[in-house]
Amino acid sequence: MIYMDKRAAKLLKWYDENKRDLPWRNTKEPYQIWLSEIILQQTRVSQGLDYYRRFVESYPDIHALAAAPERDVLKLWQGLGYYSRARNMLHTARDIVQRTDGVFPVKYEDIRRLKGIGNYTAAAIASFAYNQPYAVLDGNVMRVYSRLTGFTEPIDNPKGRKKLQHIADEFLVKENPSDYNQALMELGAMLCLPKNPRCAICPLQIYCSAYATHSVGVIPVKQAKKQKKKRFLNYLVIQSGDKIVLRKRTRGDIWQGLYDFPCIETTSSAKVAYLTETSQWQSIFGRKKHAIEAVSGEYRHILTHRTLLATFVKIQSGDKAMILPEGCEWVSLRKLHTFPVPRLIDRYLSANL
Ligand code: ADE
Ligand code: SF4
Repeated sequence: MIYMDKRAAKLLKWYDENKRDLPWRNTKEPYQIWLSEIILQQTRVSQGLDYYRRFVESYPDIHALAAAPERDVLKLWQGLGYYSRARNMLHTARDIVQRTDGVFPVKYEDIRRLKGIGNYTAAAIASFAYNQPYAVLDGNVMRVYSRLTGFTEPIDNPKGRKKLQHIADEFLVKENPSDYNQALMELGAMLCLPKNPRCAICPLQIYCSAYATHSVGVIPVKQAKKQKKKRFLNYLVIQSGDKIVLRKRTRGDIWQGLYDFPCIETTSSAKVAYLTETSQWQSIFGRKKHAIEAVSGEYRHILTHRTLLATFVKIQSGDKAMILPEGCEWVSLRKLHTFPVPRLIDRYLSANL
């Protein structure tokens, strides 16, 4: 029997007896582990499970993913948000298929270099797939270690993260990094919760600094957040017969590769009377009267650094030959559901079309 830190031994025993049966825990395939970690980065396990299953079914291996059109991958990702994660996965799948005929790299440094894979995901793949000694540090793990060690500096800046990474490296059980990493994450997800952690049944309670000092409610410490900037989007929902105008979003802004509608962005909340006077409106409709059928209320959509405030102006147009802004196309209403759209647009469509 190897010597093991008592805390680690307790944690591993608890994990062994209490772990959830999750599909990515029953595989050593780096492709499936990679996929699960990318999905779970900003997503709860309960929501991520369905996406994971659908992805594995549609794209059972890296060759299948690499061969997929971006539009289909984004459609499958729809609702998860952070669409660059999906685009980067596709890029990396194609990269690996092209360079090494689909063989996933094994060395941490080679995994870390792949597009869309940061320290956390590289450590997760290296430890879960290959049992290599790399300590994972995600939000769950940071919460557990900061409470366990009584770490009172902010954890959401590079300095705090670096110190916690050192702590994580030191605690890592190098003989069994795969289970140890999973166990820590499981403790963070099941017991050491952000609010009302279940300290009473926690296997680490007798070692926990935050518990001993009644600081569980104030650790981890986070920096004060900046107010999010607002963006005002005025969407033009142009219909003619059974067709509707969609716009494909391009590089350099949110939602690259997804579809929404032609849009007039304003610096504050705008009335339709104002919109019809803008050059964007007039370059589409000229000065002709167009039938404005409805103006929606304000839809609020929260992103990481922005709050979007959107209104939708529904316009009936008899004129399919009108000059559409760049990136726009007429799409049949029957085919609308095949286009990947941001949740904001999906919310509007579900309620109005
Ligand atoms: N969250 C992120 N990665 C996870 C994993 N491998 N198992 C459970 N929850 C997770
Ligand atoms: Fe987290 Fe409470 Fe366990 Fe400490 S005792 S590790 S705060 S659940």
